[in-house]
Amino acid sequence: MIAPRVFQKIDEIRREVVAGRQRGLRVGLVPTMGALHAGHASLIQTARAECDVVVVTIFVNPTQFGPNEDFDRYPRTFAEDLALCESNGVDYVFAPDRAEMYPPDFRTYVTVEGWDSVLCGASRPGHFRGVCTVVLKLFHAIPADVAYFGRKDAQQWLIIRRMVRDLNVPIEVRSVETVREPNGLALSSRNRFLSESERRQAPAIYSALQEAKRAVEGGERRPEIIEKLLRDRLSAVPGLRLDYAEVVSTETLRRPVKLGGETLIAVAAFLGSTRLIDNIIIDVSP
Ligand code: PAJ
Repeated sequence: MIAPRVFQKIDEIRREVVAGRQRGLRVGLVPTMGALHAGHASLIQTARAECDVVVVTIFVNPTQFGPNEDFDRYPRTFAEDLALCESNGVDYVFAPDRAEMYPPDFRTYVTVEGWDSVLCGASRPGHFRGVCTVVLKLFHAIPADVAYFGRKDAQQWLIIRRMVRDLNVPIEVRSVETVREPNGLALSSRNRFLSESERRQAPAIYSALQEAKRAVEGGERRPEIIEKLLRDRLSAVPGLRLDYAEVVSTETLRRPVKLGGETLIAVAAFLGSTRLIDNIIIDVSP
C-alpha cells in the first residue's frame, strides 16, 4: 500500500483534483471529521470500488457544534486515521486547519430552510447550517464527481442531497448503508464515550427500530402508532433518555398522515452524556 498524499491547503488539493478530472479520472470524495472506524471505511471502500481517485477529508468542523456540545472533546486520532486511509487505498487526504476553512473574516452560511430545525435540528440549533456550509466548501475545494455519505446520519445525507439539488452543485450524492456492531449498535466515533453498562443498553435502540420496521411490514400505516411503539420500548431502557423518535417521509422530512413511499424511522437518545442516533429507512407500499 502507498501512503495517501496529505494536503492542508485548498488551492493545492483543488489543483490536483482538477488535473485528475482533466485526465478523465472519476474522483470520489468522502468527507469526515476523523476518528475513523469501519463505518467510514465502508464509505471509502465504496468510493474505491466506483472511482479512480479517492479523496478523504478530515476536519472537525467547529461551526456544526453547539456551544455546549463536544467540539473540544471530539476524538482527534490523525495517525490512526491516516493508517486506515492507507490500508483502504485512499489517494489523497485533505486535512485543513481551522484558519484555512474559516479565516477570521468568514461570514457566509448555507441553510436548507425548515429541514434544519426538525429531528436532530430541533435539539441542535445551527448544526445543519454548519454541516451544509462546510460540505459546500469541501465540494468547492474538491470538485469531485461523486460524494459519499452514511445513512447512519440520514438527515445529514438528505439535507446535503437537497442542498446539491437546490443550488445546482455539479456532484452526485451517494449514500452508504449503516455499519453496525454484531449486536446492532451503529458504529459511531462517540461510542467510545459509553461506559460498560451504557454499552450494554445501547443496542436497544436498533432493536426498537427493527420492531418498528416489523410493525410497518405487518401493515401498520399510522406514524403516531410507530412513534409510540418506539417511545414505549425505549422508555423501558435504564439510563436512556429519549430525544426523539419520529417517522417521516424522506422527501419532505415531515410526518405523513399515513405511511407511504420511502420512510425514515429515526431515533436520537442520550445514554449518560453521550447522544446516539440511529434509523431505519423503508419503502412502504401504499
Ligand atoms: P463523521 O461523523 O466523521 O462522519 C463521516 C461520514 O461517515 C458521514 O457521512 C457519516 O454518515 C458516515 N458514517 C459514520 N458512521 C457510520 C456508520 N456506522 N455506518 C456508515 N456510515 C457512517 O458526518 C460528519 O462526519 C460531518 O458532519 C461531515 C459530513 C464530515 C461534515 O463536517
